[in-house]
Amino acid sequence: MTNSTELWTDRTDIRITKQVTRPIEPLAQGKVLVAIDRFALTANNVSYAVTGDSIGYWQFYPAEDNWGIVPVWGCASVIESNCAEVPVGDRLWGYFPMASHAVLQPGNVHADYFVDVVEHRRDLPMVYNQFRRTQAEPEFLQNMENERCLLFPLFMTSYLIYDYLIDNDFFGAQQVVIGSVSSKTGFGLAQMLHNDSNLSQSVIGVTSPGNVGFVESLGCCDQIVLYKNESQIDATIPTAYVDMSGDVRLTQSLHNHLGDNMVESCMVGGSHWQEGGKAGDLPGARPRFFFAPGQIEKRNKEWGPGVAMAKATEASTKVSAMVADDINVQWVQGVEALAQSWTQLLDNQIPPSTGLMVSL
Ligand SMILES: NC(=O)c1ccc[n+]([C@@H]2O[C@H](COP(=O)([O-])OP(=O)(O)OC[C@H]3O[C@@H](n4cnc5c(N)ncnc54)[C@H](OP(=O)(O)O)[C@@H]3O)[C@@H](O)[C@H]2O)c1
Repeated sequence: MTNSTELWTDRTDIRITKQVTRPIEPLAQGKVLVAIDRFALTANNVSYAVTGDSIGYWQFYPAEDNWGIVPVWGCASVIESNCAEVPVGDRLWGYFPMASHAVLQPGNVHADYFVDVVEHRRDLPMVYNQFRRTQAEPEFLQNMENERCLLFPLFMTSYLIYDYLIDNDFFGAQQVVIGSVSSKTGFGLAQMLHNDSNLSQSVIGVTSPGNVGFVESLGCCDQIVLYKNESQIDATIPTAYVDMSGDVRLTQSLHNHLGDNMVESCMVGGSHWQEGGKAGDLPGARPRFFFAPGQIEKRNKEWGPGVAMAKATEASTKVSAMVADDINVQWVQGVEALAQSWTQLLDNQIPPSTGLMVSL
């Protein structure tokens, strides 16, 4: 019998984790067993845990009692199959648990993807339930497994925000301020805006002192501003704010500084996961939450199913190539090392130039 090695997180205190080894039940008809050989670890995974109850991320791979399993973007191979359409040897990219193995129930099987149709996932956003069958994809994508785990889920979001801003004519903004710009989602967006010669908006990145050098080296910001120095931003220009930090002090400070010139305030992430809170009434546009799957659904209706994801994949491929020399992949081997990396991530001890890839 196969055992799965897993890292469980206390849903009431995400600093507490425990290693779990549990036997995998004999496979039921229609299911497949996959061995997950790699997944990425970024601030995005911390946000899945922080919002696990409010948004529902704990529901993808349920654990027991007060414990949850943080989802991760990874690659896996089918090692046992009771589903004729998805044979042993199939290679997958998708949304897996922090574990060495997982059981999936493929449905709606296509040459290049299937959906996990297990009962408890049915009401969850489709983007997380789809698994790419990568052997049906172009070879260059098959050769980008690390990038797909580490960068694509973030850069695809960057693309969807970029598209959302263009779709809304930037709400009239002439500059875009990006909070926590050294995050992959943040600098991915900065790159896409900066590289689009049709756009005239300037790009202003906000970050911490230790990460300025990294952001400078990417060359994608017209201005870099340190936290607490927000008054350096020109407040006479209509501005769109895209926030990856979730830092309520920063939101308040930028809104108060820009006043009515804050024409859009888009809350994307919470990399500063301990600095959240209610911003209260603020001058300028009302902050609203950006949920990438929502923009995908909108574009699927307008452009046809799958078109937005294809464009996001193309944009991610381009930016991944551009930053290849700026990100050093560091491998984390085993569940104990994973628990340590999780703590380091929570404590902001992973530099933005380090890309953590995990193998259990
Ligand atoms: N809404 C959506 O659909 C969606 C989709 C994708 C990602 N996101 C969100 O975007 C955010 C960024 O994710 P990512 O994976 O791109 O991040 P990442 O690359 O891991 O970000 C690293 C950066 O985040 C900041 N940071 C990380 N941990 C921190 C901590 N403990 N305390 C303070 N700052 C910390 C630092 O930047 P600075 O010094 O520059 O602040 C650090 O350089 C996450 O909150 C993620 O959930 C949202």
